[in-house]
Amino acid sequence: MSKRLYIETVGCQMNLLDSEMVVASLRHHGYELADRPSQADTILFNTCSVRQHAEDKTYSQLGRLRQLKRENPEKIIGVMGCMAQKDQQIIFDRAPYVDLIVGPGQLHQIPELVAKAAAGASRQMAVSLGRRDGTSDDIKRSHETFDPLRDPTMRPTPFQAYLRIQIGCDKFCTYCIVPMTRGPEQGRPPEQIVSEARVLAEQGCLEITLLGQTVNSYRYTSADGQTTNMAALLRQLHEVDGLQRIKFVTNYPKDMTTELLRTIHELPKISPYLHVPVQSGSDEVLQRMQRGYTVSDYRDMMARIREHLPEAAVSSDFIVGFSGETEAEFQQSVELLRECRFKNSFIFKYSVRPGTRGAELYDDDVPDEVKKRRNNEMLAVQNAISEEDNELFLGRTVEVLVEGPSKNSLKRGEEGPLMQMVGRTHCDRIVVFEGNQRQAGQLLPIAIYDSTPFTLIGSVVTQHVGPEMFAIS
Ligand code: 5AD
Ligand code: SF4
Repeated sequence: MSKRLYIETVGCQMNLLDSEMVVASLRHHGYELADRPSQADTILFNTCSVRQHAEDKTYSQLGRLRQLKRENPEKIIGVMGCMAQKDQQIIFDRAPYVDLIVGPGQLHQIPELVAKAAAGASRQMAVSLGRRDGTSDDIKRSHETFDPLRDPTMRPTPFQAYLRIQIGCDKFCTYCIVPMTRGPEQGRPPEQIVSEARVLAEQGCLEITLLGQTVNSYRYTSADGQTTNMAALLRQLHEVDGLQRIKFVTNYPKDMTTELLRTIHELPKISPYLHVPVQSGSDEVLQRMQRGYTVSDYRDMMARIREHLPEAAVSSDFIVGFSGETEAEFQQSVELLRECRFKNSFIFKYSVRPGTRGAELYDDDVPDEVKKRRNNEMLAVQNAISEEDNELFLGRTVEVLVEGPSKNSLKRGEEGPLMQMVGRTHCDRIVVFEGNQRQAGQLLPIAIYDSTPFTLIGSVVTQHVGPEMFAIS
């Protein structure tokens, strides 16, 4: 009889991809997925440490398993990902019934660790960060055999997949825990990335999203001294037959070179969608965050984007209430948002992370009510911008990669020829329309007749349209 795995994932796209890899490797060892912890032999939590809230959620979920484990001591409970790396022994202290703690660099060891736990080994921990120079066996396995192990059932849709091109981060922004949980930045060899992209295309993927913490800083220098940067990598990936769209997140403002922008403009499969978090509109705050650029540098970058890639949609992240943020500094963020008119922004209340330079150097001195108010104020400004920008699409036709039934449609249990379908434009705008399940995985022209801040609403254009008919999307 096959064994059953329940896996719960929180956090970023990198975590979704890591979970896909772990599921794939456990399937090779005879596992099937279960819908609930009570039905599973092995229960894994893939965790996030970027904000306190994500950690609290995981600890409370672990707490809920205490009773289950008491009644079923043979069940194996594992904590993997960033929180495993950051908290290590603390997890065993808070939840002594946990069997495994596995950091993001050791996920390929999970089948072996699970087997050992099943054979009676208790409290195993595999956490280590280091430069993956390809010399140690562990690293070779995680680079060469782990990434290509894929599980299509864990992807966002059968025709979309994530592809890691870089691990770790070297930027050490003072608020951020990622360099401490995912280790130093390293690009994967381009040959591996391209061959993985080919496998994904053969499996029917039309869209890949390249992942890296600072994805546009990607570089890889081979043994013969040849360096491949992001622009060169995109050129190689553009040649992969079958792929229609190539997206990449998350970008770092300082590495948004003109060469890269020109390359994106030149290559039609590369989505002109740039997520480039600015984090703050105040030079003083950016300095305290050690982001490595000024507001004026960011403005210059935006001007270069508008010049070389005028069709681009740009989105951003902001942190409000970072240590010492005054009302005037916050207002500078609001002003920058108004000026840049991002397609959308993710706005976060600062969450102090023990282990970061920010936690060491500064007090978390902005009260939570103030953070909340600033968060809401910014969201309102962003929503108004998104609403106005989306209205510009009324009457235009956009090309949409159809993902499947919308959440609303699934909630309503719609079936048959008329259900609400959802997809995205090349620029990552969400579009809903009346259609049917058969259209999933197709690139369709959709005429937009209504809009909200977050969604374009349209209908399928049935007559033939040439590419010249599409509005910039
Ligand atoms: N508190 C709040 N937001 C954070 N981010 C990263 N670290 C923190 C933190 N300590 C945000 C940044 C980043 C996004 C992924 O999460 O805006 O771009
Ligand atoms: Fe964190 Fe800064 Fe690296 Fe992004 S660039 S992962 S915010 S340290």
